[in-house]
Amino acid sequence: MMKTISQQIIARYTARTPKSQAMLERARRVLPGGNTRTGVHYAPYPAFMVQGSGAYLTDLDGNRYLDFLNNFTSLIHGHAHPALQDAAQKQLANGTAFASPMVGQVELAEMICERVPSVEQVRFCNSGTEATMLAVRAARAFTGRSGILKMHGGYHGSHDLAAATADPEADRGIPNGLRQNIFFAPFNDLNAVENILAEHAHAIAGILVEPVPNAGGVPIPREGYLQGLRALANQFNVLLIFDEVITLRLSEGGYQKIANVMPDLTAMGKIIGGGFAVGAFGGNRDIMLQFDPARQDRILHSGTFNGHSVTMAAGIASLQNLPQAEIDRINALGDKLAAGFDDAFQEAGIVGQTTQVGSLVQVHWRGGEIYNMGDIAEGFRNAGDLPYLLHLAMLNRGIYSAARGEYNISTVVTESEVNRAITSFNESLHELKPYAAENYPALIL
Ligand SMILES: Cc1ncc(COP(=O)(O)O)c(C=O)c1O
Repeated sequence: MMKTISQQIIARYTARTPKSQAMLERARRVLPGGNTRTGVHYAPYPAFMVQGSGAYLTDLDGNRYLDFLNNFTSLIHGHAHPALQDAAQKQLANGTAFASPMVGQVELAEMICERVPSVEQVRFCNSGTEATMLAVRAARAFTGRSGILKMHGGYHGSHDLAAATADPEADRGIPNGLRQNIFFAPFNDLNAVENILAEHAHAIAGILVEPVPNAGGVPIPREGYLQGLRALANQFNVLLIFDEVITLRLSEGGYQKIANVMPDLTAMGKIIGGGFAVGAFGGNRDIMLQFDPARQDRILHSGTFNGHSVTMAAGIASLQNLPQAEIDRINALGDKLAAGFDDAFQEAGIVGQTTQVGSLVQVHWRGGEIYNMGDIAEGFRNAGDLPYLLHLAMLNRGIYSAARGEYNISTVVTESEVNRAITSFNESLHELKPYAAENYPALIL
């Protein structure tokens, strides 16, 4: 009987999504595994989404989902927001790309510099991946050193330095020689950072850190951690680079404004593109002026689509519609969603909890404190296939999230949608309880 619960959940999913399953078969012929973005794959196969409107997604089979993933946080205003659409369409009518500087770039740069305390100048690129890659290049050029200190489990995009982990076996295709320039510390561990800097600061350009690692499972920075990183960077004369590709959404000035810590460089993306492909990096004027193309010793940074006119237009509309009051509202909805999920775990009698900062919520499968990736991975290991089944059980109830238990909230969501997600979470945990009791008794309270 216990096995049938998992089979029932999977069977219900496949019965709802036959057209997606057929499309995946077709996709497999021309896309490896039918996929062109690792993070959107989940078992048994992902649903193909064909339409987004406000807080809702519709898949190929016509199922509707309340979207709590929002293209992994980039769609802070949900789908097809009229103001963003209007801005993009007006620009489309005037042509898309010119091999010249464009006014929209100046306007969006002004908005970002005004909002983000440490950013005096900014450059645009096409993804968060490029943003962290170029912020690192800026730091290396400025310091004349090659080393980068980053945190275990941190995600900074898909270029080699960002994707490299401490495990060479896992890093297929990434040159091993690169590793001599990468130093790893656990998140939330200032001693580890201090020890590395004490020994290697002469070879290190900067510390690259996401203030709250989102893909890293939303461990909350300990009191004084980010300030401590700033102090250590000063003490050892290395740069502090914040990856705010996701955390920029947490206040008008990103998490740096909340923590009151000024990094030297900041990587940005997602919400500043109004739904289009975007990245940006910026910071201290002296560092950024290295990119002044009139300088003989300028850092080369070209790109056919840098500062794309449609992206700039939609990005401006995105930030215009994102005053602090609106951010406060969705952050409070994040509080509500996280508290609702925590209560649901309690009520179902299953070990689990959320970590949450503002509109970012992450589900965990363990009790106790959660400070870094080690804590998080342990919970997931012990939960076996429960996270996967919970994800499918939520999809079956029309709630869309990341398979790894990541939720985020857009501005088109209200209390009523949050309540629906909590109810579905409750129902899903109850559905799973007998299966959990049979297969993971240690997770039963
Ligand atoms: C913190 C962080 N940095 C960088 C990136 C890479 O951004 P992109 O996917 O736009 O390349 C991501 C993407 O999710 C991210 O979460």
